[in-house]
Amino acid sequence: MFRWIGYGLAIMAVLALGFAAWVWLASARVLGRTHEAAPERLVQPSAAQLADAPRQARILGCLSCHAEGLRGRMMFEAPNVVKVWAPNLTELAARATDQQLAQAIRQGIGQDGRPLFVMPSPMYSHLSDQEVAALIVFMRSLPRAGAQTPRIEWGPIGRFALATGRFPDAVGRVEEFRVRQPFDLGPATAAGRRIAMTGCTECHGADLSGGRPTPDITAPDLAIAGAYDREQFRRMLRTGRPPSGRDLGLMGKIARDDTRHLTDTEIDQLHAYLQERAQRIAR
Ligand code: HEC
Ligand code: HEC
Repeated sequence: MFRWIGYGLAIMAVLALGFAAWVWLASARVLGRTHEAAPERLVQPSAAQLADAPRQARILGCLSCHAEGLRGRMMFEAPNVVKVWAPNLTELAARATDQQLAQAIRQGIGQDGRPLFVMPSPMYSHLSDQEVAALIVFMRSLPRAGAQTPRIEWGPIGRFALATGRFPDAVGRVEEFRVRQPFDLGPATAAGRRIAMTGCTECHGADLSGGRPTPDITAPDLAIAGAYDREQFRRMLRTGRPPSGRDLGLMGKIARDDTRHLTDTEIDQLHAYLQERAQRIAR
């Protein structure tokens, strides 16, 4: 009888090892993929775009994730899943070409061809050639400072998610963002639509119909903004406080750190687009 228990345990140990080896190999294959980036056409930004680039970098969230001065930081850690550093971009900018920086920003492809994770390149794929060029000039203008940042570290659960396709990289989602876009409601609301595409789709979904920025956080369809009047919308995007007074968690942080830097005009344009979109959905 002890012998049978022994065999049983041995078989289970072999299966467990086999499973661990499969997870390791399959996730290593995902992480080891490389991509050929499309050539970036970077054109000279206008003087106004160059002057506005530091503010754009705030609205777009570059400084929230990559830290003040873009010096990089440990962004978040989920034990056994993943430990994510947003890289020190002052270090990177000193080594990388404009092509490499641009392909990271809007194609989701790192300088060595590997797919990026967590970096919201799918959303930034909607930035224009000039806007990306202005961001690169801004990155290069910052003093080189801070320490080198490590690569993302994957734990066993994170590796399982990679192996089973549950943790998509930025490259595949760039394609999704090309195909699935928010309704185009014509020239009158085009400016607001663009702000939403480059600033809200990361969490609220490629077409703004709702998304899941992390496995345990959901962001609603932005039709919800249809219930806000102009003043309420301005207040929420500046302070994170909705009319209900509820604590919005991650959205509150985005408002206080990023969207606070939108001008009144930009917030009103965004509001006008989201109102139209909400009405169109209700019809
Ligand atoms: C939600 C957080 C977040 C935001 C917002 C963000 N990044 Fe990143 N970024 C990251 C992370 C994390 C990585 C590392 C990804 C990896 O190594 O897989 C990264 C990587 C990069 C890289 C380097 C890729 C390489 O070659 O290694 C560049 C360049 C970059 N980001 C620029 C920007 C710029 C410019 C902005 C604003 C327009 C921005 N990032 C906004 C999280 C963010
Ligand atoms: C980093 C992720 C993230 C980004 C970027 C983001 N949001 Fe959100 N947003 C959320 C989450 C998460 C919620 C849900 C908060 C809750 O219900 O607790 C939310 C909720 C909201 C709500 C509903 C608040 C309510 O009354 O319940 C509005 C309106 C909103 N976001 C507007 C925007 C707009 C406009 C943008 C772009 C300028 C944007 N968000 C960008 C994550 C994000």
